[in-house]
Parts: sequence; structure tokens; C-alpha cells
Amino acid sequence: MRVCGTIAEVRAVLAGEPEVGFVPTMGALHAGHVALVQKCREECKKTAVSIFVNPTQFAPGEDLDKYPRRTESDLELCESNGADVVFLPTVDEMYRGSLTTVHVTGPSELWEGAERPGHFDGVATVVLKLFHIVQPVRAYFGLKDLQQCAVLRQMVKDLDLAIGLRFVETVRDEFGLALSSRNDYLSSSVRLEASNLHRCLQACREALLRQPNNVKSIIQEGRSTLVHQGFGVSYLALVDPVSMQEEAPARTGLRLIVAARFHGVRLIDNIAL
Ligand code: PAF
Repeated sequence: MRVCGTIAEVRAVLAGEPEVGFVPTMGALHAGHVALVQKCREECKKTAVSIFVNPTQFAPGEDLDKYPRRTESDLELCESNGADVVFLPTVDEMYRGSLTTVHVTGPSELWEGAERPGHFDGVATVVLKLFHIVQPVRAYFGLKDLQQCAVLRQMVKDLDLAIGLRFVETVRDEFGLALSSRNDYLSSSVRLEASNLHRCLQACREALLRQPNNVKSIIQEGRSTLVHQGFGVSYLALVDPVSMQEEAPARTGLRLIVAARFHGVRLIDNIAL
């Protein structure tokens, strides 16, 4: 496995490789990332992973400084899961003198976009830069960040990028909590309680399948349950995963999305209907 710190180095290592698959990450890797690497290895000749805590996707006051960083064990995990190349740039390497931002409208506007100003500009900009650096044929993202998937799908379409996006279903712990690097902030007993978020999504899904025309009251009930369980709910909604607009009545293809604060940590999750 080659570890590259500079853009020139990673370009040189990947030059002439015909079928590079790419897994962009912010490190603190877990089984969700491993699932992306495995899928990439199944479908591509070479697997490149980037590890870069991208400062431009954190709003002022967010957790940029305390975001978990554990490069050594991340590299071990990449190596043991068969990654061929890891790109590990510094902030300076990525952004020195940079004056350009990618802004995707449409699917970026509601939900995370409304609550975290500038977040999706940061994501789209860094992912486009990484795509130009790595030049993959396919790139792999976790569906846990559903809105990120929608924003990147729109960007790839609008900018005519010849890159196939693959979205991989969320990996959960034994209690159902969606794996996330930010779960590091929660103790194990709090994680167990936090898995109520997933149970709420499942209960809403069952109710919506029974009563597809009752979206409003089912969502309202789901919200109240979460509030009773101590969650500070930002949103719970039934959306189209491409436009990220709210939809009713319930039908297959839609997804239930949720964001809530629990013990000071903001959690997001979603499930397919
Ligand atoms: O999903 C993430 O970890 C990040 O948003 C990404 C896509 C690596 C961009 O920094």
C-alpha cells in the first residue's frame, strides 16, 4: 500500500491505472468505511482511499478541532482491507491560495444545508478537487449521509463528470445505531440509548406502510416519541432521496430522514421506506 502526502505523488502513483475506485473519507475509520473499501475492491482494479478532515465543511463553532483523528490505526485498517493507495494531504496541500467554491443548489438547501451553512459547499468543493486529483472511474459513499449523496449526484450530473457514484447502505452497531466517527463522542451506555433513533425510524416506517396517507400525523408522533426519549429533534421527514424534498403520500423509493441532538452530539440517520 502506498501512502501519498502530496497531490503530485498520488497523481504519479495512479498515472496510467485504468480502473481506479475511490473512497473519500475524513478518517476515524469504522466498519461503514470498510464496507465502502470492500465494495470498491470488488468492482475496481485499484482502490484509493483519501483521509482528510476537510475544514471547509465545518461551520464556525462546529467540532473541527475535536473531530477524531487516528491516522496510524486508519492506515492499518486500509492496509488490512486491501487498499492500494492512501492519499493523506495536509490542509495547506489542498487549499493553499484557493479562491474557488463549488455550490450545488437544489438538494443542498433543506435539512443539513439549512442548519449547517456552507457545509455542502465545503463537501462539493473538496470532493470535486479529490476527483480531479485521483481521477477515479467510480467513487463510494455511505448512504448514512443521504443528503451528501444527493448533492454529489447533482454535482456529477451538472458538471458531466465521467465518474460512477456508488452509494452503500449504512452499517449499524449491534443495537441499530448507525456507525459514525462522531459516535466516538458517546459513552457505550449513551450509544445504547441513542439507538432509539433507529427504532423510531423503523416504527415510523411500519406505520407509514400501513397508513401511507397519514404522513403528517405519523411524523408528528415519531417526533414526540424522540422528544420524550431526550432527543433534541432538528427534523424528521419523509423525502425523495434525489431532490431531498418532502413527499406525501408514503411510497417505496422515499426515505425517512432524521437529525437529533443527544447528550450534546448531533446524530443523523435515515432508512428506506
Ligand atoms: O462523508 C465524508 O466523510 C466527507 O463528507 C467527505 C465525502 C469525505 C468529504 O470530506
